[in-house]
Amino acid sequence: MNQPTDGRDVVLIFDTTLRDGEQSPGATLNAQEKLDIARQLARLGVDIIEAGFPAASPGDLEAVKRIAETVGQEKRTNKFGQPADPPVIAALARANKQDIDAAWEAVRPAKHPRIHTFLATSPIHMEHKLKMTPDEVVARVAEMVAYAKSLCDDVEFSPEDAGRSDPRFLYRVLETAIRAGATTINIPDTVGYTTPDEFGRLIRDIRENTPGAKDVIISVHCHNDLGLATANTLAGIQNGARQVEVTMNGIGERAGNTSLEEVVMALYVRRSIFEVDTNIITQEIHRTSDMVSRYTGIVIQPNKAIVGANAFAHEAGIHQDGMLKHKRTYEIMDAETIGLSHSQLVLGKHSGRHAFRVHLERMGYHLSEQDLTKAFRRFKELADKKKVVTDADIEALVGDEVYQPQETWELVRVQVQCGNTVVPTAVVTLRNANTGEQMTEAGFGTGPVDAVCQAINRIVQVPNILTEFLVQAVTEGIDANGDVTIRVAVPESRGYKHTAQGRPRRRIFSGRGIDTDIVVASAKAYLQALNKLIAAGNEDSAAVLLGNEPISQV
Ligand code: KIV
Ligand code: ZN
Repeated sequence: MNQPTDGRDVVLIFDTTLRDGEQSPGATLNAQEKLDIARQLARLGVDIIEAGFPAASPGDLEAVKRIAETVGQEKRTNKFGQPADPPVIAALARANKQDIDAAWEAVRPAKHPRIHTFLATSPIHMEHKLKMTPDEVVARVAEMVAYAKSLCDDVEFSPEDAGRSDPRFLYRVLETAIRAGATTINIPDTVGYTTPDEFGRLIRDIRENTPGAKDVIISVHCHNDLGLATANTLAGIQNGARQVEVTMNGIGERAGNTSLEEVVMALYVRRSIFEVDTNIITQEIHRTSDMVSRYTGIVIQPNKAIVGANAFAHEAGIHQDGMLKHKRTYEIMDAETIGLSHSQLVLGKHSGRHAFRVHLERMGYHLSEQDLTKAFRRFKELADKKKVVTDADIEALVGDEVYQPQETWELVRVQVQCGNTVVPTAVVTLRNANTGEQMTEAGFGTGPVDAVCQAINRIVQVPNILTEFLVQAVTEGIDANGDVTIRVAVPESRGYKHTAQGRPRRRIFSGRGIDTDIVVASAKAYLQALNKLIAAGNEDSAAVLLGNEPISQV
């Protein structure tokens, strides 16, 4: 897999959006969303997909297994347009037999399965979290890596909090893992503490001082607590790392993980410095980023490198003038390289289904007949309301209409009355997708959106706290599509889940809705968040029935 191209090494892209990324507050994804994202990551060309942490619950195990059975088996097309193998499907496991068994059960259907096991090596983690001596840690690593190896050929080991570990102890632990059969050694800067010089040196020292290190792949896994994750990852590559662990849009716990798009585009734009390649199809970056943002409800800051809305916008007159004279005056890469197209849709409300399909295919969307019908109906509605329908509008409506999570409740009708002299009132009709029953309720609120939420609550009746409400415009102009993101939290008792590292996290669910009417967009967003909350509740109940409560401490 690590084939040199034109004499350059390939840096393997290990995407952990579905595992470390999903640990971001509010990023909870259901099984179908995980599958959609995994499929898009495969299309993007990532080498390894870390699909989850199966020991957390039967629901998590099932989600990873589904990805292994499908995406982990499906041929794909590489960046040269040739048929390529499916990605490696990895699952995380703490260094104990139950976790490793769960990880193996989940990934074994994949053509290329991997078990990724970890154990902390920093003094603070060993003493306070694990309550283990360094010798006990070494013994556990030897035993558990060997156990993982007895199940699966491809084993990755991570010394958690390596960035704050004693390098000499690290050499010892890593040598042990390599002797026990690890084929990838991943060095995490778990709390984003190191600086680029320091982290680069750590990688170089590990390669030079760990017996066997030159026979395995050295990987880096950085967190962004000081905003240095990308810089540290690039320093790792310059010092011999040949796998990088990243997430789309840099999502992840606290300040997040290294973002895939930043590393990939840095390696691409500055290839004369780094002299390495990746297998990423960069034209798929924008679409992947958009999907991850839509599904997780984590909105991308406008000035985010590569994928932020302003990353290719030139507002200042002097910049626009320069751009017109020579594109490279202010742009170091083309928007098209990441799959953004500036073209305006030339179709209008009289355009036919065939022209619409051809345009979608040119944009990279290959929809089933059923999805095409749904998207085409939305396009016609939009073309009736909006003078200019842009590619951004099309992307938004395809996302809103086609890539939808499973719904318990569907929006049928929403009607509001508001103004400065009336009490904002909403009448909402919903359809229960399981029973087919339609229900109508009215609600009053401080404004039209609040009134809509109150009416929905009267029908759906799931306790929740609305924690965030955000409205953005998809494109410019008064007739722009409104893009609403809503987050809801689960109140109290069952509101917490634990991460792989045993940290509690509040369960927050997000929903996103798009419509030219922001009240309608809000109703869709709120309903989507509630549908996810209901689905997660069902998954949890299944977990409890199977006697596997979400995990606690290591
Ligand atoms: O940040 C970290 O240490 C991790 C490990 C489990 C690889 O996510
Ligand atoms: Zn991490």
